[in-house]
Amino acid sequence: MAAGWERALFDFEVRSSTRSYRVVGPMSLAGATATGDVIVIDSQVTYLVNTRAIGDVPVVTAPEGEPNKTLRGVEQVILDCNAAGLKRGGRIIAVGGGLTQDLVTAAASFYMRGVPWILVPTTWLSIMDSCIGGKSAINVGSVKNLAGNFNPPQEIWIDLSITRTLPETARAGGLAEGVKIAYCAGPDTLQEFLRLWREWDESGSDEVAYAIVGLVLKAKADIVERDEFDTGDRLLLNLGHTFAHALEVATKYQVSHGQAVALGVLAASALSPEPPGRDLLDACVALAQCFPSCTADIVDWNLFERAIQGDKKHTATEYRLIVPIGPTPRIEGLPRTPDTLARLQTCMTSALNRSYGE
Ligand SMILES: NC(=O)c1ccc[n+]([C@@H]2O[C@H](COP(=O)([O-])OP(=O)(O)OC[C@H]3O[C@@H](n4cnc5c(N)ncnc54)[C@H](O)[C@@H]3O)[C@@H](O)[C@H]2O)c1
Repeated sequence: MAAGWERALFDFEVRSSTRSYRVVGPMSLAGATATGDVIVIDSQVTYLVNTRAIGDVPVVTAPEGEPNKTLRGVEQVILDCNAAGLKRGGRIIAVGGGLTQDLVTAAASFYMRGVPWILVPTTWLSIMDSCIGGKSAINVGSVKNLAGNFNPPQEIWIDLSITRTLPETARAGGLAEGVKIAYCAGPDTLQEFLRLWREWDESGSDEVAYAIVGLVLKAKADIVERDEFDTGDRLLLNLGHTFAHALEVATKYQVSHGQAVALGVLAASALSPEPPGRDLLDACVALAQCFPSCTADIVDWNLFERAIQGDKKHTATEYRLIVPIGPTPRIEGLPRTPDTLARLQTCMTSALNRSYGE
């Protein structure tokens, strides 16, 4: 349990075919480590671990930054765990954002043919989204996320006190993934998400923050349980992401992932024959406005087109995007033609205009 809390505010199991795992919050490292554990922490945030509270559990660092999310980075984590004395009976405790999670998901599955591991996510994106689902994604050569596997942790410990060192925009980025998950889970979950978000903004209460995180993680867990290996319902969680990834690339990452997701959901809505309700759209505009504005003239539209074309979901004849149709997301196939690309650019431009004015 994290300091100051007497009981868990959420504690549930995610049933996965590989392994069922527990998600609990608030829960901190202090007092929860065991002999034989090794902590692997993002090298930039080692200050998040209170060394007095973990006794003699060794701490090793995982390399930070996208250029290090490589097979070599995985090898480094394995070597460092070995040097720290990790044995088969021990666990890796990963402390970091989505990047550390990706490295440790892969490293823990290879280390001595597999050791159990615990995840303590430290960024809003990893807390609100990536911690659930068990996927790793490793960059190979110049291709992002080309290799990966499924290897869920044994437990996920959510400790929101860890987020105090993050910039304010990071929360908006997490909420963008959160509102997307809540919409995919259905109208009741979306309404509850929006209600909790308003309450959190008004009160700043940690208890409400745990409530919103618990709501989103349970909603994502339900979807992952229905489609663990990403062939059906789970694909719908990619709502807005074809646009988002293309916008990140086409602005040379001046637009962060969370901002791009909010804008991507708006762009996907502009494509829809039956756009979703104003609740979702207004939420995405409000979140996009938490970031520095992105206008159409800073987007390299050639790069945007190329990135759209490269999305892994497309078939030989169709661009496949997740589109919000009224209250539910759906996979839509659009012909692979220059006209479609022009239409996708128009949708992206309309999302930018709607958020930041023309
Ligand atoms: N496997 C999956 O399911 C999945 C899903 C989504 C994203 N991802 C991957 O996750 C990565 C992005 O993850 P992210 O957005 O969490 O970023 P990140 O892990 O790269 O962290 C971003 C920055 O924040 C710093 N940081 C981390 N925690 C902090 C804290 N509490 N206080 C201050 N600084 C902190 C890090 O050192 C880093 O500089 C990408 O590589 C993406 O591909 C994986």
